[in-house]
Amino acid sequence: MNYIPSLKYENGQLTIIDQTRLPVETIWLPIHDLNTACEAIVALRVRGAPAIGVMAALSAIVVFRNSVKAGEAASVERFLEICNTLRKTRPTAVNLFYAMDRMSAKAAGLEGLAADELQQQLEAEAVAIYREDVELCDAIGRHGATLIKEGATVLTHCNTGSLATAGRGTALGAIYTAFFEEAKKIKVINTETRPLLQGARLTSYELVTAGIPTTLITDSMAAMVMKQRRVDLVMVGADRIARNGDSANKIGTLALSILAKHYGIPFYVLAPSTTIDTTIADGSAIVIEERTADEVRSFGERRTAPANVNVFNPAFDVAPAELISGIVTEKGVFHGPYDFR
Ligand code: MRU
Repeated sequence: MNYIPSLKYENGQLTIIDQTRLPVETIWLPIHDLNTACEAIVALRVRGAPAIGVMAALSAIVVFRNSVKAGEAASVERFLEICNTLRKTRPTAVNLFYAMDRMSAKAAGLEGLAADELQQQLEAEAVAIYREDVELCDAIGRHGATLIKEGATVLTHCNTGSLATAGRGTALGAIYTAFFEEAKKIKVINTETRPLLQGARLTSYELVTAGIPTTLITDSMAAMVMKQRRVDLVMVGADRIARNGDSANKIGTLALSILAKHYGIPFYVLAPSTTIDTTIADGSAIVIEERTADEVRSFGERRTAPANVNVFNPAFDVAPAELISGIVTEKGVFHGPYDFR
């Protein structure tokens, strides 16, 4: 099947689909400069942990190349500055830091190279991060699909598909694999995912486009559908996984993990190893992004609450390892106690 891409890198040009406009319109946004790249990540025009990392790596090289064309020196120092600015866009998804660490380490080893050679080698590294993510998704899809039985209904949250990665996705990647490559007759229940509706806007769009049967529910309906035994398993992605398996993901994931435990429904987290942060022992060290109050005071373009009401708007929460039935990476399905090193 052809997945809806999150970005394209062709002939040295980077473009992303502006996900804030989906599903109403598909607008391709060119990325030429650092401001546009950073704004696109902050505004969630590109989002999803793996996609953010890949896009940041490709942006770094495009921005560097354009700044050299504009007369700046092709110095490693300048490249590291670009990476450091990109790092400041979003704090939770570790894939961004993985990509920037990798690009920075590559650059640090290239000190003294001529401009052309420096740019070529950095481009090769960014393209490698891009291609590897496609392969990571394929492998996660294969392992994840083994958990989905014929006829199963999978509940998923937020968007973890091709729009969230460079490939077919993680949790949604497993669903694509089970449906298309294993011809399993499966169904999906996908949550709306307030406040920014990644589930309603993006996951529904991906699944409807792919022809996979899905039913959209509001976040608060999850308990009801689980109680009614309409869900066989839950599959979600992650933005950062600690060494002990505690997994940060879109706000609402913690509630789903508690509900799944209560109703005896398997709860799986699917993510590439680039989402595992081996520097932190558990989820208490994960920085949770807090976003602007207006995202909660409104629904789309329309304000739905008093402009001066107090708001708490964490973008992510952490599902504790003990509520997770298994973590699926490109290396296989892991069960607790986890010790990712
Ligand atoms: O704020 P977002 O849309 O970037 O949050 C995305 C998620 O929480 C995803 O579930 C996660 O990044 C995994 S994407 C494969």
